[in-house]
Amino acid sequence: MTMNITSENTSTKTVYLKTFGCQMNVLDSDLVQGQLEAMGYRFVDDWEVADVILYNTCSVREHAENKVWSRVGELKSHKEKNPHVILGILGCMAERDGKDMVRKHPQVDLLCGPGELDQVPMLIDNTMKTHIDDRGGVRNAHVALQGNTHRRSATYSAAADNLENLDLSRSFSASNHDGAAYVRITRGCNKFCTYCVVPNTRGREVHRHPDHIFEECKKLVEQGVREITLLGQTVNHYHYDLNSTVTIEGVHQPQVGQILSPNRGTGGASPIFSDGVVSFADLLARIHDDLPNLERLRFITSLPRDFGNDILQVIKDRPRICRYLHLPVQSGSNRVLKLMNRGYTVEEFKDLIDRVREYLPDAELATDIIVGFPTETEEDQKETAELLRYCKFKNSFIFKYSPRPDTVAITRFEDDISNETKKRRNNELLAIQAEISQEIHDGYVGKTVPVFVESVSTKTKKAQGNTADPSVTLGWEASETEVEFTQLAGRTAGDLIVCFDGSSELIGQTVDVEIDKAAPLTLFGKLTEAAKVSE
Ligand code: SAH
Ligand code: SF4
Ligand code: F3S
Repeated sequence: MTMNITSENTSTKTVYLKTFGCQMNVLDSDLVQGQLEAMGYRFVDDWEVADVILYNTCSVREHAENKVWSRVGELKSHKEKNPHVILGILGCMAERDGKDMVRKHPQVDLLCGPGELDQVPMLIDNTMKTHIDDRGGVRNAHVALQGNTHRRSATYSAAADNLENLDLSRSFSASNHDGAAYVRITRGCNKFCTYCVVPNTRGREVHRHPDHIFEECKKLVEQGVREITLLGQTVNHYHYDLNSTVTIEGVHQPQVGQILSPNRGTGGASPIFSDGVVSFADLLARIHDDLPNLERLRFITSLPRDFGNDILQVIKDRPRICRYLHLPVQSGSNRVLKLMNRGYTVEEFKDLIDRVREYLPDAELATDIIVGFPTETEEDQKETAELLRYCKFKNSFIFKYSPRPDTVAITRFEDDISNETKKRRNNELLAIQAEISQEIHDGYVGKTVPVFVESVSTKTKKAQGNTADPSVTLGWEASETEVEFTQLAGRTAGDLIVCFDGSSELIGQTVDVEIDKAAPLTLFGKLTEAAKVSE
């Protein structure tokens, strides 16, 4: 553990932390930052002035890794000029490719896989201590912690899961959020889709104890968080058997468990804990019902396999659970889905979409697609295009297949689709998706929607006519004065992005916005009069 590290030796140290990859990494970075801040480290936005530079990395596609490789390369001369600087690689790349990285880039001092992030403060401390040799010279110490690649058994993984400490150590302070927060419910993934590195980098699927999740959500809400997004690679597979909980050193340890039947759950008002097994539907219901001040409850990502009606019913009955589902389908061809080991057919996926439309007619859906998976034909591509038209996702994240080391796909199949073909197929699907997105967005024009305000991008406009500033309205010179309008960006409950003018004080709040324009990626609107009054 990290208890022996005092703030004395860290109080003057500055840290730059850059995050790549998925929301899981965003959360991990927040938790690592919280731990380091508690020890006296100060975070800076400029890597050039930092004593410690950390990259939290992603391995999901080669392109994601290349971005980090080139940054690490750029830091070579910076490290030569500033030998005291510590460079650390955290996350999935450190886990997947750590040794190779240090071999190629000896300027990397520290590696830490996603399963060991609670140890980052200790690793930095060790690196600092060993970085300078007896004669004051600098040497590269190369401190590394990886875990998941040396795969443990499921039981051992659960028993030794000290990473729970990272989530439990979360610092709850109003300054740590803009009204929104991620909460992990499941770590790792067991699904072994043939193209995917995540089971290798994040390890086995481990579900967190529901009480830990609930308490974390409760504390966040008490600190003013209004929107919580529950995170897992396959959130709908969350389940926790309270009867078989093992307790190790006073801490409930997560269980690795079986998949429940898709239609489990009463679908009624309060299915919580009816048989000692907490399902995803139970968890959603509990968080919603017992945290009435939580304005929005979201979750990502759902696996299209075993998505039960019990979950849909719980959402239907609870207005503050967002009507938004991220359901990555990957392909519209049964043949390709089978090669990918996704565990569902196109027909089953369509059935899920039909059930979602039946239970939640106002829901927005999004998906992920991989084009150019080995052996993919034009016919397969046509089937994917047809599925896009059927499902009417509000957006699709479309990726070109990237062969990843140590996956089943790279060992079994040749990457036989050329980059040009992948690119063309990608563009074809993007064009179809843009039409559908535009159509969905057009349907919102003229409507007023609640928007959770997330961020600000300041733009300067020429002042026109009356403004609140008297110097602007007096005389022609003054009317040329530039005033700042602030453009805000936020999301609807269905996850549609909305831009509008307003004050940055609205960040973290939900306001009503009247939509007056629609583009494929963004809606534009203005604050309603009522929202302006409360501004
Ligand atoms: N757990 C989620 C996905 C996590 S990875 C799920 O099962 O759907 C995020 C997305 O990256 C995937 O949905 C997939 O579309 C894409 N992806 C993963 N591995 C990839 C690869 N090797 N090449 C291209 N895209 C990939
Ligand atoms: Fe990867 Fe499949 Fe797990 Fe998603 S479900 S993280 S795609 S192995
Ligand atoms: Fe990337 Fe790891 Fe997330 S590989 S997508 S950062 S789980």
